Amino acid sequence: MIAVRGLKKEIGPQQILRGVDIEIGAGKTLVIIGRSGGGKSVLLKTLIGLMQPNEGEIEIEGQSIIGLSERQLAAIRRKVGILFQGGALFDSMTVEENIAFPLHEAGLRDPKIIRQKIAEILEVIELEGQEKKLPVNLSGGMKKRVGLARAIINQPSCILYDEPTAGLDPVVSDSINRLIRRLQERYHVTSVVVTHDMKSAFHVGDHIAYLHEGRIYFHGTPAQLQESSDPIIQDFLIGRARVAD
Ligand SMILES: Nc1ncnc2c1ncn2[C@@H]1O[C@H](COP(=O)(O)OP(=O)(O)O)[C@@H](O)[C@H]1O
Ligand SMILES: [Mg+2]
Repeated sequence: MIAVRGLKKEIGPQQILRGVDIEIGAGKTLVIIGRSGGGKSVLLKTLIGLMQPNEGEIEIEGQSIIGLSERQLAAIRRKVGILFQGGALFDSMTVEENIAFPLHEAGLRDPKIIRQKIAEILEVIELEGQEKKLPVNLSGGMKKRVGLARAIINQPSCILYDEPTAGLDPVVSDSINRLIRRLQERYHVTSVVVTHDMKSAFHVGDHIAYLHEGRIYFHGTPAQLQESSDPIIQDFLIGRARVAD
C-alpha cells in the first residue's frame, strides 16, 4: 500500500533522513516512534509530497509520487488524509465549515450530500451537536477530532497522523487512540501514526518502527519491541517511561 525505499532528505547542512525503508500493508497501522527532532514530521511530509526527498522512492498504491506535478499530487492527496500536529483548523470557520472544506475543494456542491456526509462523520468522531461552534470554543481533544474529520471526509485510503495525542491528557489521548482504531476497523484505512507517546504506540500499532539517526533502526510488532534487548531501544523505551511518570 505504502512503500518507501532508500529515502534521503537533507535540509541545509542537516541530513535528516539517511535512507529510510518502510512498507505498510493495506489496512494496517504502522506507528513511527523516535526522538523529537529526529525527522518524523519530515518523513510524513515527504509521503504526501509536501517535501521533496533528495533520493529514494515512495509508492502509494503502487504509484510513484516522486517528481509528480502539483496537479498529480493533488490526486494523491485525495487518497491520503493527514492530521497535522496542531489540527490546523481554520479559526474563522465553524466545525461544520472546517469539515466541509475538503469537499468543496474536491468539487462537491450539493448541499444535501454535504450535510449528509458531515452528519455521518460527526457521528464517527462523536461530536454531534457541535457543528456550529468555532475552534476557539473547543477543547484540545475536540480540535483533534475535527482535524481528523476533515482529514477523512473524502474517504482517503490512507491516513497519516502527526503526534495525534501530543498535549492531551491521558483520558482524551485514550479516546483519540480508540478513534484511530475505529477508523481502521470501519474504513479499513492504512494508517501511519507518528508519535513519541509509547502508550499510544502500543495501543494503535500493528507494527512499530523506530526512526533513529535518519534510518529505521527497528521494525516489528509491539510485542517484539517490548521484548527487544537492544540497548538503544531499551534506552528509548525507558527514557519515555520516565518522561511519562
Ligand atoms: N522546513 C524546515 N526547514 C528547516 N529545517 C527543518 C524544517 N522542517 C524540519 N526541519 C528540521 O528537521 C529536523 C527534523 O524535524 P522534524 O521532522 O520536525 O522532527 P520530529 O517530527 O521527529 O520531531 C529538525 O532538526 C528540524 O529543525
Ligand atoms: Mg514532529
